[in-house]
Amino acid sequence: MCGIIGYVGDESAQPRLVSGLQKLEYRGYDSAGIALANGDLSVTKRTGLVGDLDLPASSPQTIGIGHTRWSTHGPPTDANAHPHTDCTERVAVVHNGIVGNYDDLRAELPGHTFRSETDTEVVAHLVEEALAEGQDLPEAVASVTERMEGSYALGVVAAGFDGIVVARRASPLVVGYGEGENFVASDVTPLLEHTRSVSYLEDGDVAVVTRDGITVEHEGQPVERARHTIEWDANAAEKGGYDHYMLKEIHEQPQSLRQAIAGRIDDYEDRVDLDLSLSDSFLRDVEEVQLVACGTSYHACLFGKQLIESLADVRATVEYGSEYAVGSGRTPDRTLVIGVSQSGETADTLRGLRAARRSGIRTLGVTNTVGSTVARECDDAVYIQAGPEIGVAATKTFGSQVVTLALLAVAVADARGELDPDRARDLLDDLQRLPGAVQGVLDDEETIRDVAEHYADGDSFFFVGRQFGSPVALEGALKLKEISYDHAEGFPAGELKHGPLALVTENTPVLALLTEGARPDETANNVREVQARGAPVIAFSSATRGEEDVAEQFSIPDLGLLEPLVANVYLQLFAYHLANSKGRPIDKPRNLAKSVTVE
Ligand code: F6R
Repeated sequence: MCGIIGYVGDESAQPRLVSGLQKLEYRGYDSAGIALANGDLSVTKRTGLVGDLDLPASSPQTIGIGHTRWSTHGPPTDANAHPHTDCTERVAVVHNGIVGNYDDLRAELPGHTFRSETDTEVVAHLVEEALAEGQDLPEAVASVTERMEGSYALGVVAAGFDGIVVARRASPLVVGYGEGENFVASDVTPLLEHTRSVSYLEDGDVAVVTRDGITVEHEGQPVERARHTIEWDANAAEKGGYDHYMLKEIHEQPQSLRQAIAGRIDDYEDRVDLDLSLSDSFLRDVEEVQLVACGTSYHACLFGKQLIESLADVRATVEYGSEYAVGSGRTPDRTLVIGVSQSGETADTLRGLRAARRSGIRTLGVTNTVGSTVARECDDAVYIQAGPEIGVAATKTFGSQVVTLALLAVAVADARGELDPDRARDLLDDLQRLPGAVQGVLDDEETIRDVAEHYADGDSFFFVGRQFGSPVALEGALKLKEISYDHAEGFPAGELKHGPLALVTENTPVLALLTEGARPDETANNVREVQARGAPVIAFSSATRGEEDVAEQFSIPDLGLLEPLVANVYLQLFAYHLANSKGRPIDKPRNLAKSVTVE
């Protein structure tokens, strides 16, 4: 959802901005641009990728900001690309977010000529006015942000000012500390090659980033923001020999799943330690656990809900972040809201979490991103420890979210005195065997690639499963439609006959989960219904079921309730290879962005 980068130091800013923007492109890739600001201001921007920017071979300027855009206000055109400048062309602004009162602010600038259709440009003109009134750049940015409604992460440079002024409200921004150089970015991925020392800005902060230091003010007062050391391996944010980040991240799953459970399972006691600050007495009295998320994370919640209900004997519900309302009949102090978000920055999920907090409900964030808004705003946070995920289509984080929710289900069951030791042992054993089972799927990649290519011309693709197979069916369909642009739908298998069956023809491949945990016998009945309409069926079934009467069959090793999660890796590879055979831009699917920071 737009990426921002900034550099101030002794080295040429241009290559650092370009390389940083390329690492942020997963946040949006409609257009890109940079502004360099020592002495005069120079701006280069256009539609397309960062690599398409028409830049000079080298540049001596050592201060600059850059932006990669996911359009909200105004279509992706050269004029709408960031940075935006004022009338004097001495101020340049990059922005992630939405200026809610843009029309009102623009109406206050009658003498100004606007060159774009964006909400952001108004910020450049307001800063110009403030500078003309005698304010310096930090004062100007602070006074302009006071007048802005909505969300923003802003980076502002001006000719003659030896640094960058940044500000945030409801959009992420992190500053990085180097030796004789300092940085700002939307997230840590572009900073890893330069520094591990960062601070996350808080809502309402205005910071001045110069070569020699970073100062932060909040409501006009100087504040210190905690410094964090980032542990992520810099190589983790590179493609490492794979054609696409998505494929690399699919292949990282044995490792990321191990990381999700590392140090959290006590094998002797069959217990889980997630280092939660939620007290056992609170968890014992909880009447409802509400899981709030979007997209793939929502599907992980559908899986987690079933685990929490069945292990911990407590009602669990799943809500889209954008739809969440506390609803009547709830007792706030006996409700727990769990917000699940890979990025920790999804505006819809944050909206739901904030609504819960306003009602006095305790919140727990499950996220991949240390220092993210979800982690900071929730009462408690658990990290899925998957490492950076760059591919726009979420893959490894889905499995790690489900695994973390499974561990949480055991911990909550334990705190409530509901833990059945046999069931806990089975689940914890299966969780520990999961990375090996996933490796088995990865070793069989060629077979699923051939099948994906064989069925690539399907008119439409259906994914079906029951119980734990149902969220995996939804997730499999989402993955395919996102990156292949083919029509795909996921259903609880029993729902097929209530409508979607009307769409099934001999050119509608149906991918069916016939594993343990997916009520395979009942789903097999639905498979026969689609076969009777001529549809080819690709089945993912438990090794124990033996040969199925279907067009293609993949065998999933015995892993109890987690078998659908293993099958999900086949579905990821199916989507990847089908889309790749069509030459789709897999890491940058059209119209999408990795981190959706607008509602
Ligand atoms: C799909 C995908 C999205 C995200 C959704 C929530 O592949 O990546 O559906 O899952 O935008 O994102 P997070 O988990 O960052 O809140």
